Amino acid sequence: MKNLNLTKSMQLYAEAAELIPSASQTMSKRPQAFVMGAMPIYIERAEGCRIWDVDGNEYVDFIGSLGPITLGYCYPAVDEAVKQQLAKGTIYSMLSPLEVEAARAITEVIPCAEMVRFLKTGAEGTSAAARIARGYTGKELIVNQGYHGWLDTWAAERANAVGTPGSMKESITSFAFGAFEGDRCLDAVLNRHKGEVACVFMEPVSYANTDTGDFLRWCRELADKHNTLLVFDEIVSGFRVALGGAQERFGVTPDIAVFAKGISNGLPISAIAGKREVMKKAEDLIISSTYGGETLSLAATVASIYEYRNKPVIPHLWAMGERLMSSMNGIAEEIGLALEFRGWPVMSSYSFGYESDINQDLTTLLLQEMAKRGVLLRRGGLNFINYSHKAEDVDFALTQAREVLPILKSAQASGAIKDLLTTADVAESIRRF
Ligand SMILES: Cc1ncc(COP(=O)(O)O)c(C=O)c1O
Repeated sequence: MKNLNLTKSMQLYAEAAELIPSASQTMSKRPQAFVMGAMPIYIERAEGCRIWDVDGNEYVDFIGSLGPITLGYCYPAVDEAVKQQLAKGTIYSMLSPLEVEAARAITEVIPCAEMVRFLKTGAEGTSAAARIARGYTGKELIVNQGYHGWLDTWAAERANAVGTPGSMKESITSFAFGAFEGDRCLDAVLNRHKGEVACVFMEPVSYANTDTGDFLRWCRELADKHNTLLVFDEIVSGFRVALGGAQERFGVTPDIAVFAKGISNGLPISAIAGKREVMKKAEDLIISSTYGGETLSLAATVASIYEYRNKPVIPHLWAMGERLMSSMNGIAEEIGLALEFRGWPVMSSYSFGYESDINQDLTTLLLQEMAKRGVLLRRGGLNFINYSHKAEDVDFALTQAREVLPILKSAQASGAIKDLLTTADVAESIRRF
C-alpha cells in the first residue's frame, strides 16, 4: 500500500508555520494531534461523511470537525436555509426574528430550557453560564469537572495557566467525575467549601462509560442540598446522545445547560439555556456580543433542530456507531489484538491495552494505515458519527480495518511498530496539546 501524497498539505503547513502561531486556530486540529507526514493537514472540501484534502485524496471522516457535524457536511436542508438567509443579510442593526425562532425551538426540545441566550463559541457559552451562575447566587467559586474552552474562566484551574491572572486561581476548584467517595468526590469538595459555591459545572457524560445516571442524580441532589446551581456543559453530548442531550437521556435536569457543537451542524453558535428564574439574572450582567444575533448560524440552528425532530437522526447515529464499535471490537478479538472501542456509540473512544509506551505507537500506526486506505480517525477518539454515514460507509471503514489490524498485531508481536511508521517525528506526533 503506497504512502499518501501529501505534498500540498506539507507545503501549506511550512508556509503557515511562518504566519500563524502553532499554524492552527484549533489545538486539536494541529497536525501534531494526528500523524504528521502520514495524514492530511489541509482540507479542500467536504460532503456528507467524506472529505477531500488539498492533494486530492478522499476519505470517510470519523472526526466530524471535532463534533459539530451531526447531519453531514454540506447537508442540503441546512445549507439551503443558510443560502436563503444569506440573500437576506448576515447581521442587522436591530434584532432578527430568527433569535425568537431558534430560542423557541430549543425550549421545545431541551428539558431545562425555559429561556435561551446565544453567543458564538462553546467557550463563550460556558463562560457566560458561569457568569450567570455567579450573578444569580452571589457566590464566586465554581466546582468544576471537564473541559469547557480556552477562556480565563476555565484556564484559571490549570496549573500552568500562563497568561491568566493568578488571582483567578481561587475562583475555581475541581471534582472527579464518577467518584462517590474520596477527597475529590463532589460531596467532599462541597463540604470543604460550604456557602462559597456558585455552581457545580460539569460535562454530563463520561466518554468511556455510558452508565452514569446514578452519578448525575447524585450531583443534582448534592447541588440542591448545598443550595447551589447545577450546570451541564452539553456541547458534545447535546443533540447527539439524545435530542435533548444527556439531561433527557438520564432524566436529570440542570439549572443551566450550554450547547454548541451539535446545535447547527457546523455553524458558529452557542446557546445558554436554563430555568427562567436563573436565566433572568443575565439581564443584570454584561453578556453581549456584536455577533450574538448573526443570522446564518441561527438559520442553521432552526433548520438542524427541524431535521433532528423530523428525521430519525439520533437513532441513526446510535445504529451506525454500534456497527462501527462492535465490529471493530470483533475484528480485534478475532486476531488477538488488545484494542477496545467503548463508550457512547455516537462518539466512541478506543485504546490499546499493552504497556504504555507501545500503545501510542500502535495508535499512530492505526491512524496512518487507516488514512492511507481512505479513513480518518482521531487519536483515541472520539469517533463522531453523523447522519450522512450510511451502512456502506461504516462497512468501508471496517473492510480497511480488516487489513490494518492484522498489520498492527504482527508489528506488536515482532516489536517492529516503529519501523512501520512513516512519520519523521513520532514523539511530536503524539503530543495532543
Ligand atoms: C465539552 C466541551 N465544552 C466546551 C468546549 C469549547 O468549545 P469551543 O471550542 O467552541 O469554544 C469544547 C470543545 O472541544 C468541549 O468539548
